Amino acid sequence: MRLSPSQIATFEKDGFLLFPDLFETHEIAVLKAEIERLSKIEAECIVREGDEETPKILLQVHDPDSATASEAFRQLTCSPRVLGAARQILRDDALYLHHSKVNMKAAIQGSTWPWHQDFMSWKLDGIEHPDMVTVLIMLHDATPMNGCLYFIPGSHHLHRLDPHYDTSTAYEFWAADAHTMRNVMAQHPDPVAVTGRAGTVAIFHCNLLHASGHNLSAVDRWHAFLCFNTVANRPHEVENPRPEYVRSTNWEALPLGENRAITVTAGA
Ligand code: SIN
Ligand code: MN
Repeated sequence: MRLSPSQIATFEKDGFLLFPDLFETHEIAVLKAEIERLSKIEAECIVREGDEETPKILLQVHDPDSATASEAFRQLTCSPRVLGAARQILRDDALYLHHSKVNMKAAIQGSTWPWHQDFMSWKLDGIEHPDMVTVLIMLHDATPMNGCLYFIPGSHHLHRLDPHYDTSTAYEFWAADAHTMRNVMAQHPDPVAVTGRAGTVAIFHCNLLHASGHNLSAVDRWHAFLCFNTVANRPHEVENPRPEYVRSTNWEALPLGENRAITVTAGA
């Protein structure tokens, strides 16, 4: 997939690009079947929430050495539509994934993600430069009702804001505080709802402010997030690093896959 100069310019201005219907229905079906399979595995790289222990986050699905290894997610990661696009935006062919995850925001129960920049956490993982992008793949249609993401256009130009450790949700992490967000939102365009049919893709900068609300609808909202870094920008050592499933130390450059549909092979 070749991005045009005007798409690259839009990414630089707004901090994100949207690609409606980039993956076909049958490819999304393969990925969803994989998620059903993976969510039955008992492993620490699967975060669950609530009394029923509903799976909330499946991590490191691209990595052949992970408990959640999946050939289909590996193909997705390396596909020209994903890795090819990330290479062009980061202007570097040697990329690896800092982490991959599937956020399963369950119907009725799935909870919010407060406003944050991903680089708030990744800087603390020892990564020096905000030269990272996330490729988000919608596995269900995303709507405001089922907890789609919101982006604040151009907010990546603020660079990294001071994070505060947010313990208000099932998954604690570094986010922006309310005072900061009031100021930022007073000075930026309105947030845009990142909606689309299953198969739609958004690519966003690691300093772009984003958040999502509760899933109030009767349908699940699953999204895959593939977080690319350049090999040259791999993290330096930090005290008490986060676990490997959120801070990969497999810095081998990912090979670009063939331009073909996502499938699953036996035993994957
Ligand atoms: C994230 O920003 O990491 C997750 C947001 C979401 O799944 O809604
Ligand atoms: Mn995020």
